[in-house]
Amino acid sequence: MRPWSEMEGLLLKIRDDKVPVLDMRDREGFYKGPRLRGSVHMDEDTVMSGKSCWLLPDKHEPLAVIPSSASSVIAVSNFLAARNWTNITCLENSQELWSLVTALGMHDDENTPATKLRRRLLFKPCALLHEEIGRIEASLLAGARLKSQGSENHCSFLVYEPGCGRARNLAWLALKEHDNVTWRCLGVDLWYSALQDVQDLFQHSGVPPEQACLRFNNICPHTGALQPMSMREAQRGQLKSHTHIAFESTPIPTATCHLILCVRFLERAFLPTIPQLLAPGGFILFCTFVDAEGTQRFGRPRGENHLLQPSELARVLGPHQGLEILRDDTAVINDGRELSMFVARKRFDA
Ligand SMILES: C[S@@+](CC[C@H](N)C(=O)[O-])C[C@H]1O[C@@H](n2cnc3c(N)ncnc32)[C@H](O)[C@@H]1O
Repeated sequence: MRPWSEMEGLLLKIRDDKVPVLDMRDREGFYKGPRLRGSVHMDEDTVMSGKSCWLLPDKHEPLAVIPSSASSVIAVSNFLAARNWTNITCLENSQELWSLVTALGMHDDENTPATKLRRRLLFKPCALLHEEIGRIEASLLAGARLKSQGSENHCSFLVYEPGCGRARNLAWLALKEHDNVTWRCLGVDLWYSALQDVQDLFQHSGVPPEQACLRFNNICPHTGALQPMSMREAQRGQLKSHTHIAFESTPIPTATCHLILCVRFLERAFLPTIPQLLAPGGFILFCTFVDAEGTQRFGRPRGENHLLQPSELARVLGPHQGLEILRDDTAVINDGRELSMFVARKRFDA
């Protein structure tokens, strides 16, 4: 076991640097016992199965973990190291740890309801959404209040993400604590097992099906329309119940989306439908790879079908389509690749 002073130093660093904490004790230990403020619970077996790694922070970001017992510390550390998490602090689940957590005032409020605790996440959404969500919500709320002459205190907005994958962005929005905004989420993807993972997360964290729908559809590369995916009957027989996953491929009604997210997803045939799908005052965020030096050097994705051309978005999602461009720049990520940071809003009179 670490000396007391070393453990204290680690805890203070976790507090000061706001390091996310993953607690892998058994459920009862976490929900009933003392816990670190802001910590997130996941069963150790689930983490070690590798299935839920997408729920962890990015691999280069710091993460503190509390394995279920002293005997699993090495196994957990080795597991995360083998999967390339490079900045892990392991805290041993011991009486000393919890005494110190209490002494430092870092314990969670004892009456936090279990539903609230289940809604915590360790990961962040794409940087563009994280940066822009404040102004998006403020603008949408102001628009709604203007429309209702100031009577709207709480609003529900629809966010749509084509190619949502494991829905990091949608899950973050659905679970984010807002004083006066609820995000209803609509995700589309042709990757069934990813949608199943998100459904599990929504079930576990109490996001009701009325708030989040995951459509198992293909976005047609020729027309941009939604198409049903074929599921062999045998496969269907093995499927578990679908609370949040839907198979219908009816078109999304026009002018209903308050936010459309295209993140690391590019299907050019879908671009012309974006202005039609946006509600007046609605936003489009586009964050995908650009055909530039860093991406070319990295080598993935490659080919013009998968890479945006510089200034392409301004041509197809600009004033001619009734949109006002609020941001159109490029960010370089850790591996040197360039991502578009494009934000536009549909004019109210468009
Ligand atoms: C790189 S992932 C990005 C996932 C998510 N947007 C994110 O940022 O975490 C791209 C996703 O688009 C989905 N996708 C690609 N082409 C698609 C299509 N034609 N129709 C539906 N989904 C598609 C893939 O299955 C994959 O989940």
